[in-house]
Amino acid sequence: MKKLAAITVILLIGSAIILSFKTETAKVNTTATLPKDSVGSVKAFISVYKVLMSARCMNCHPSGDVPLQGDDSHLHTMNVKRGADGHGMYSVRCSNCHQAENTRGLHMPPGNPKWGLPPANMRMVFQGRTPRELALQLLDPKQNGGRTKAQLIDHMANDALVGWAWHPGDGRTLPPLTRPAFAAQVRAWIAKGAYAPGADAK
Ligand code: HEC
Ligand code: HEC
Repeated sequence: MKKLAAITVILLIGSAIILSFKTETAKVNTTATLPKDSVGSVKAFISVYKVLMSARCMNCHPSGDVPLQGDDSHLHTMNVKRGADGHGMYSVRCSNCHQAENTRGLHMPPGNPKWGLPPANMRMVFQGRTPRELALQLLDPKQNGGRTKAQLIDHMANDALVGWAWHPGDGRTLPPLTRPAFAAQVRAWIAKGAYAPGADAK
């Protein structure tokens, strides 16, 4: 009888250890600590890049100081310029025309409470950047608004102005991925090591 009790105790302890080990590995798998994988990381970034270079994102991340408009990303009409704070110059302020919400109808001003370009002292240019250049720029706190990698993920996944791109108002096309799919690729890019594509990547 004593022997049986001892075996039962040992079995119980054993399964408790196995169980706690199992929950431990499950925990690890659900956090972002994927093993480093440069090929997978670069592949994820190329998907991210396609969204960043789509008109809905690039039109506010131009190489010059004039915002861009439309699916063909032409220069904003009506002499609109970035200005120091990104919200316009002199009396031509973004909020003169851009409201907190999209104005309905074709060619009407889109809207968001934060509508504006990045400021003149941190221009966050996407237009014309190769995948490698843009990846390195996004990861550099001196060029990305002082963001850590976690804050960069959060901005792309949750920021309301970024989210406007998926509710852009009448007549404007959407980015090539849904927002959740985009956020998943951003996370995979960073979790797998935040690698920048090679210089020849397109
Ligand atoms: C209406 C203009 C506007 C649109 C549209 C827009 N952005 Fe931005 N973006 C900004 C401004 C302004 C900032 C700087 C504000 C800040 O740092 O929070 C910024 C900053 C960023 C940053 C952080 C800085 C950096 O470059 O590392 C990222 C990433 C970003 N935007 C991604 C996107 C993506 C992705 C889209 C499209 C899905 C998008 N943006 C669409 C205006 C815009
Ligand atoms: C005089 C009015 C006016 C002012 C001021 C103005 N905009 Fe616009 N903006 C518009 C109109 C109207 C459209 C829509 C054009 C269309 O769809 O053909 C537009 C479209 C845009 C788009 C294109 C969105 C897209 O993805 O197609 C961006 C980006 C933009 N404005 C940024 C700005 C920024 C940034 C400022 C301030 C620096 C600004 N605008 C100031 C009237 C204005």
